[in-house]
Amino acid sequence: MKRFLDLADFSREEILDLIALACHLESHPEPRVLAGKILGLVMFNPSLRTLSSFQVGMMRLGGSSFVITPGHGTWQLESGIGVTMNGAAAEHVREGLPILASYADALGIRAFAEGKDLKYDLAETNFRAMSAVVDKPLINLESAVNHPCQALADWKTLEDLTVPQRAKFVLSWTNHPRITPMAVPAATVHMAAHRGMDVVVLRPEGYALPPETMDKARVAAAASGGSVRETNDRTEALAGAQIVYAKEWGSITHYGDSVGDAALRAGLADWCVREDWFASASKDCKFMHCLPVRRNVAVADEVLDGPRSIVQREAYNRLPAQMAVLYRLLSNGGTER
Ligand code: CP
Repeated sequence: MKRFLDLADFSREEILDLIALACHLESHPEPRVLAGKILGLVMFNPSLRTLSSFQVGMMRLGGSSFVITPGHGTWQLESGIGVTMNGAAAEHVREGLPILASYADALGIRAFAEGKDLKYDLAETNFRAMSAVVDKPLINLESAVNHPCQALADWKTLEDLTVPQRAKFVLSWTNHPRITPMAVPAATVHMAAHRGMDVVVLRPEGYALPPETMDKARVAAAASGGSVRETNDRTEALAGAQIVYAKEWGSITHYGDSVGDAALRAGLADWCVREDWFASASKDCKFMHCLPVRRNVAVADEVLDGPRSIVQREAYNRLPAQMAVLYRLLSNGGTER
């Protein structure tokens, strides 16, 4: 493996093999397999789970890491193409990233959507430009419309709990005080479709996912035997659901327009997941969210603190799933597998 940028780059079997490796590393630690290896983590945006789990993952495999948060103790890095750099950024990623890559054995980059131009973000314009100047193994730590590390951990969580392949998986929009990116919902709908699940995207009017995102998921579903559809009918969507995965995201009809998006959201306060959402769901329906989450805006305490919630397991699984990715990228085969 040279890069881990998108689950779509891997077959279902390759992903299940990565998850098997993650499970193996949980029960058979390899504390020296990455001795001497260094991972650089370039964080244009904040993180709790991604940053800490990659640092810990490197340490648990015997390697080490360094963290760059551009503009905070380092030069601010410009990533725009063809920009006249007369603003705050003193250095461009075209110089900065190859330098950081030359110090490390692998780089991870987190760079969220710019949130101004949907086509620009859907094309992963910034991330692609950055990845083009990195000649070392590269990991997508969350880009404009993808979060493969979260998706891999979530897939592992579904395997851990032996959720059937054709289970009904509902990805539901939830409320949030601000516009949030589409990386997790896009990665999640694709992950569940790639796993072969019956996926329903539940969202109010105005919050449909981009057609490009739905098409990508449908291609994955066609290959895996799953299905993908969308609806605004909450009762119908949740009937028989075996997994409800909640996530906030912005409207594509008001992309980059915080005032318009806020006006659209103003009447949607009841899109906060509560226990009564599960009345017609499968009895053992589980609740997922990638975190961070706004309690009692996106999800009620009773759900997050209740027995359905597997959000802590998802977050824990970031560690073994990413250790498997690091192992494949950096171990030269390793000792065990
Ligand atoms: N889910 C997730 O990526 O969490 P962080 O933003 O804290 O890394």
